[in-house]
Amino acid sequence: MLEHLARKWSRKEKPTEAFELDVTGQIPKHVAVIMDGNGRWAKMRSLPRVAGHRAGMKTVKEIVKAADAIGIQYMTMYAFSTENWKRPREEVDFLMKLPQEFLSTELDELVERNVRICMVGSKDELPDHTLEALEKAEERTRDNTGLQLNFALNYGSRKEIVKAVAEIAARIQAGELEPEQLDEQVINRYLYTRDIPDPDLLIRTSGEIRLSNFMLWQLAYTELWFTDVLWPDFTQEHFYQAIAEYQGRARRYGAV
Ligand code: FPP
Repeated sequence: MLEHLARKWSRKEKPTEAFELDVTGQIPKHVAVIMDGNGRWAKMRSLPRVAGHRAGMKTVKEIVKAADAIGIQYMTMYAFSTENWKRPREEVDFLMKLPQEFLSTELDELVERNVRICMVGSKDELPDHTLEALEKAEERTRDNTGLQLNFALNYGSRKEIVKAVAEIAARIQAGELEPEQLDEQVINRYLYTRDIPDPDLLIRTSGEIRLSNFMLWQLAYTELWFTDVLWPDFTQEHFYQAIAEYQGRARRYGAV
């Protein structure tokens, strides 16, 4: 029995046979992804860490296509956290150039696919070139009605919550809001994700089992799915495996 449990729960286990995802089953409306393991992927190949990020960008392309193909409505990709500024200057500069690079080659196809691009996170500290590329893409795709692709860039959940609390406090102080009016919907309106439903599924790659300051408020009832696969090695098949496992989960939201 124990042996069976150990096998069943092993995240290293690779699917042994191909399977067809049941697209008539429950498809999550919103999938959030912590794209981890780029650095280790590069190290294993004696490449600089930034080579891992470039490879990770290709995975973003593939996973967005896979999500679009099955009708997922929102994807939120954790591309840079408020803590990532602590990385070496060269790596930060590279990561700040990636959105531009990605959009310069992919935006036309994303527009064709009716994808809407949005940024979630603090725009304050971003270099002008990064912000301009993102805002241009947001502007160009504003009226698109297909998949909404959110890049969480300079995103930190605690910072997001502190900002929301400060704005709410200021409104209360100005007499524009009564403390009794405060509820979850009001708080939602002050978050970066104000118009986005909470994620149904969170995927984290690379074997780390933590949230790393990502969407702490929004993930309250999200199904969590972890894999040891490093982000650059993560394929459409792994993604559909996560969706298939999500379809097997019973979401009770605290009820029985
Ligand atoms: C974490 O891996 C990954 C990041 C901090 C950056 C993620 C960015 C991408 C996947 C590319 C984003 C693409 C676009 C289009 C913006 P890590 O470097 O911490 O890996 P490690 O834990 O193995 O060192």
